Amino acid sequence: MLVDSSEQFNDLASATQPKATVEDNNLDNTLRPQSFSEYIGQEKVKKNLDFLLRAAKKRKEPIEHILLYGPAGLGKTTLANIIAKEMGVNIKTTSGPAIERVGDFGSILTNLQDGDILFIDEIHRLNKSIEEILYPAMEDFKLDIIIGKGPSARTIQLDLPKFTLIGATTKLGSLTNPLRNRFGATYRLEFYGNEEVKDIIKRSSRILGVDIHDTGLAKIASCARQTPRVANRLLKRVRDFSQIKNHPFVDSAIAQEALEMIDVDPIGLEPADRHILRTIIEKFNGGPVGLSTIAAATSEEIKTIEDVYEPYLLQIGFMTRTPRGRMVTEHAYNHLGIKYSNANKLI
Ligand SMILES: Nc1ncnc2c1ncn2[C@@H]1O[C@H](COP(=O)(O)OP(=O)(O)OP(=O)(O)O)[C@@H](O)[C@H]1O
Ligand SMILES: [Mg+2]
Repeated sequence: MLVDSSEQFNDLASATQPKATVEDNNLDNTLRPQSFSEYIGQEKVKKNLDFLLRAAKKRKEPIEHILLYGPAGLGKTTLANIIAKEMGVNIKTTSGPAIERVGDFGSILTNLQDGDILFIDEIHRLNKSIEEILYPAMEDFKLDIIIGKGPSARTIQLDLPKFTLIGATTKLGSLTNPLRNRFGATYRLEFYGNEEVKDIIKRSSRILGVDIHDTGLAKIASCARQTPRVANRLLKRVRDFSQIKNHPFVDSAIAQEALEMIDVDPIGLEPADRHILRTIIEKFNGGPVGLSTIAAATSEEIKTIEDVYEPYLLQIGFMTRTPRGRMVTEHAYNHLGIKYSNANKLI
């Protein structure tokens, strides 16, 4: 059953987009796991990290520089914070686009202490001049500073503390090779399995004091795009809805009603996802079609399609990437109830 949207639900159109919003900041802080044991899933990464951390502790050395990559909302920032906690060191957090001036970056580096972690989010967006300072800093813990201008300019070199850089990126391919090669360990975060997403929602429900039944868990999990941030956000929306409806617990029916109201379909697609798929099907015969053409035809930004919508559509096999552009697969046609004809797909 669809219910009229009330004031509170006006911003709900993008409930499943995995990028952090202002609303998420509070939610993230409350729900963010604080230790490896609370961090659900990503077993391979956790196991490798455990070795890495234990070895570093044993040698009484800082850990190697670590690069974490994977789609938005899968737990990169969370993991960086857990690593700092496990090592008992400070973590200083910044992001690629936030570091504008060489001088600012120099002071961030010189203010670190031995063993500290410098976490740079969206590290693929560092500007070139900052990146060049980072190379000797990562490799030799040296900072080259140029003093003066013109012929009288000279370079002095400062020793930096033995810090660990943790870089996070949603786009490994956008990192330059020299930067990529300076990380001692690179880990890719994967989308979460259904049981893991259910465990995440169960844990979050416990923290938020939501009485949720298994059927409610399953319903939300199936719409969560295999992504913890989306799972948490949907849980919060469903909780708000059930409270307004004076429903004392969350079961499948109330979750379904809430999700329908915010236009999230049973596999977690939103109107924008469906619009992109439909556009490729209806205007471009299912593709292949270039990203910029899709963006123009859907009035979305290229970056938004690439970072927000496409990763999950690729993950569930609704879309494929070919050298000639994006193609919509038969699964997507079936899901949208559009007849699939592959006569023109072999060009
Ligand atoms: N493995 C996990 N177990 C439980 N909760 C998780 C896990 N990973 C992430 N979360 C939850 O999802 C939220 C989003 O995670 P996080 O901010 O670490 O993602 P991210 O990969 O850094 O995203 P972005 O690319 O947007 O920066 C966290 O606040 C946390 O509550
Ligand atoms: Mg993050």
